[in-house]
Amino acid sequence: KVVAVIMVGGPTKGTRFRPLSFNTPKPLFPLAGQPMVHHPISACKRIPNLAQIFLIGFYEEKEFTLYVSSISNELKIPVRYLKEDKPHGSAGGLYYFRNIIMEDNPSHIFLLNCDVCCSFPLTDMLEAHKRYSGMGTVLVIKVSAESANQFGELVADPITKELLHYTEKPETFVSDLINCGVYVFTPDIFTAIQEVSTHREDQANLRHLSSFETLQSPTSRALPQDFVRLDQDILSPFAGKKQLYTYETMDFWEQIKTPGMSLKCSGLYLAQFRYTSPDLLAGGDGTKSASILGDVYVHPSAKVHPTAKIGPNVSISANVRIGAGVRLIGCIILDDVEVQENAVVINSIVGWKSSIGKWSRVQADGDYNAKLGITILGEAVIVEDEVVVISSIVLPNKTLNVSVQDEIIL
Ligand code: GDD
Repeated sequence: KVVAVIMVGGPTKGTRFRPLSFNTPKPLFPLAGQPMVHHPISACKRIPNLAQIFLIGFYEEKEFTLYVSSISNELKIPVRYLKEDKPHGSAGGLYYFRNIIMEDNPSHIFLLNCDVCCSFPLTDMLEAHKRYSGMGTVLVIKVSAESANQFGELVADPITKELLHYTEKPETFVSDLINCGVYVFTPDIFTAIQEVSTHREDQANLRHLSSFETLQSPTSRALPQDFVRLDQDILSPFAGKKQLYTYETMDFWEQIKTPGMSLKCSGLYLAQFRYTSPDLLAGGDGTKSASILGDVYVHPSAKVHPTAKIGPNVSISANVRIGAGVRLIGCIILDDVEVQENAVVINSIVGWKSSIGKWSRVQADGDYNAKLGITILGEAVIVEDEVVVISSIVLPNKTLNVSVQDEIIL
């Protein structure tokens, strides 16, 4: 049997996702009309002999209750949310719940970061992992040398694929091969985490007895014994010991830390739906009479006027109303939004219950990595008729009656 664990973090993480994380935990923010965490969960569903899926985080239990019960019913696989009493780090959180994770006596454990967007080639990874016969296999990808330092950089043996060297977000360039935040382990991972934690405790005791403190790096000195990071504390020390291997994906991969990246990833997942869930894309069945261009998701409860023109990369959530003559390109429209006649929305995220007036424009240049590369309207923002909002972030509950450009409206 196999189990999967998805690390969802907690409210103190994901701060770059504001203002969209004010009222929804980042892992539940919709990409291509489905909660962010839904995409790795559906990928896990395709693993043969999958017994359970666990979400581990330090959000309040109630934030996830509704989602885990509906997704368990839908996929016919138990999905459980396990709440840490405090952050234990990506490996510490796994270790904290080891008894529950091992309930079904699985031979393999998948571990996935919730904030990565990829095709999750989990079954292929598992096969490769079995061939390597190590303790763990890490999904890796080649990125541009300039962007590599935002991730864990690593060196792998070109023939055996063994992980030879690992450095987390190094200041000087090590390699353009990076850690995708998707892993498969044997249960030996728990012994490895235990070792790190015991070693840390020993060192803490030593420091207590002598003035060893100066020999310790400042970061390891500050960490509690039960806080273990998968990257720095496990991948780095276990590299080059024939225990860790790599599996390279040639498919798409992105990390989702900012609203801009969520818009990009929403588009990537919509494009993937063509292969995995074509029924979720609008236009194919002819039921939506509006003109649809490219990949578009429209929630069944949304009302779209037949003269609206929508797409590509548009995702429309529940109870949204789109008026006559509206044009939408590259956007995420969240629940209960109203876009009135002849308004235009391009490269933007429109927050829950917002309203965009007649002949208004909400837009940006669509540079997903720039701070103001997309326009974001927080929850319940009102853009009055004929107002133009360009490359701006508008915090919740604001009313805009004049046009703005390159502004953050607090
Ligand atoms: N439950 C729980 N508890 N989850 C946590 C905790 C914790 O204490 N700390 C982090 N996480 C979750 C986050 O929500 C995220 O899904 C994942 O673990 C990794 O988060 P970070 O540890 O903050 O690392 P990162 O996202 O900056 O970088 C990691 O992922 C990159 C790929 O996206 C590193 O492993 C990089 O090497 C890697 O390239």
